[in-house]
Amino acid sequence: MAALFANASHAMSHFTLLVGSTLGSAEDLAEEMADQLQSIGHSTVIHTSPQLDHILIAPDHYLLLVCSTHGAGDLPDNIQPLLEALQQQRPPLQGLGYLAVGLGDTSYDTFCHAIRRLDQQLESLGASRIGDRLEIDVSAGDPPEQQAQIWLDQCLNEAGIR
Ligand SMILES: Cc1cc2nc3c(=O)[nH]c(=O)nc-3n(C[C@H](O)[C@H](O)[C@H](O)COP(=O)(O)O)c2cc1C
Repeated sequence: MAALFANASHAMSHFTLLVGSTLGSAEDLAEEMADQLQSIGHSTVIHTSPQLDHILIAPDHYLLLVCSTHGAGDLPDNIQPLLEALQQQRPPLQGLGYLAVGLGDTSYDTFCHAIRRLDQQLESLGASRIGDRLEIDVSAGDPPEQQAQIWLDQCLNEAGIR
C-alpha cells in the first residue's frame, strides 16, 4: 500500500458505474470507461444489476450511469428496478455527483429516453450532474468508445477531477 500511495501523483476518486443494457453494448462501453478511469488512477466498480444500495453505500464516490434505450423509450430490464426504487423511496441525494451516458439510435423518436429519465430522477433527488449528458447515436459517427473517451476526459478536466 505504501508504494501505491507514494506513486500517486493525484488524489484518487472512486467511481461506481451503473449499467443499463439489454444486448451488451452499454456494458461493453462501461468496461472501457472503467479501464480509462483506472488508467488515470481512479478506482471503479461496475454493477450490471444496479440497486439503490450501490448509490447509497459510499458517501464519497461519483456515479457513472451508462444506459441504452429499448422498446419505445424504455429502460433496459436490468436497470428498471433502480428507477422504480428511486421513485418510490426518494432518498435524498444532495452532495452526490454523477455522470450520464446514453446509448441509442436516432431513428427512434424516443432517442436516449432511458438515460434522460434516470438523469431527471437523480436531479430531482438533489444529485448534481457533472458535465453535459452524453447521448451517443450508435447508428452514426465515431465508435461509441471513442466518443465516450473524449467526453469523459473533458468532463473530468472541467470538474477538476484528476
Ligand atoms: C428493439 C429495440 C428497441 C430500441 N429502442 C430504442 C429507443 O426507443 N430509443 C433509442 O434511442 N434507441 C433504441 N434502440 C437502440 C439501442 O438503444 C442501441 O442499439 C443500443 O446500442 C443498445 O445497447 P445495449 O446493447 O446495451 O442494449 C433500440 C434497439 C432495439 C434492438
